[in-house]
Amino acid sequence: MSIDIGGSGLKAMLLDPAGKPVSERQRVPTPAIPTPLAVLKGLDKLRAMLGSFDRVSVGFPGVIKRGVTYTAANLHPRWANFPLQAELEKRWKKPVRVCNDAAVQGYGSVRGHGVELTITLGTGMGSALFTDGRLCPGLELGHHPWKKQTYEDYVGRRGLDKYGVKKWNKLVKEVIEQTEKLFNWDHLYIGGGNTKKINFKPPENVSIVSNREGILGGVALWNLDK
Ligand code: BGC
Repeated sequence: MSIDIGGSGLKAMLLDPAGKPVSERQRVPTPAIPTPLAVLKGLDKLRAMLGSFDRVSVGFPGVIKRGVTYTAANLHPRWANFPLQAELEKRWKKPVRVCNDAAVQGYGSVRGHGVELTITLGTGMGSALFTDGRLCPGLELGHHPWKKQTYEDYVGRRGLDKYGVKKWNKLVKEVIEQTEKLFNWDHLYIGGGNTKKINFKPPENVSIVSNREGILGGVALWNLDK
């Protein structure tokens, strides 16, 4: 089962070992106060909506190290130091792997050649950097200072609400230019729910990817040690 924990929805789908969807994508709203316990209860609901499964991949909107969550800017402070992987394994009695949500989105999108950057535009702004398909974990570009605030303040949901679609699009273009200068990526992938608000044709080396990749990438977490 591949799960995507988002700021507005918890989503899950069953995939076969090759990463092909074998169920509908199910969604429940993210709890209003998304503490670890409330989110785990939401995940129980999702589980009840899907069939049986052998193992679990989770994309989480914050910094993860060895299955433990450290930050979750758009969820709740109680996620600091929460052993999500171990908790879910105890709860569901299945092997679980947890990874940053933008990294999972990246695993579902990148081609494995050169420097590839994934950014996600949803409640927050996610980022994941890959070289020849290998993730360099921990990039939190969203919270990096940019102009007078941070990237996420401008192009995350708060930015979209504050500046409106037209200005937000201009800001997204600036993010493309800025990150190209910073990382010299060969290819940039832009995912996340707010990509549907993008109203310009991106340059050749930039792809807009669907939200599904955020779930499809989950299977990659089980191929990392192969
Ligand atoms: C978090 C990132 C996450 C992104 C998208 C940011 O606020 O810090 O870890 O990938 O939101 O959910």
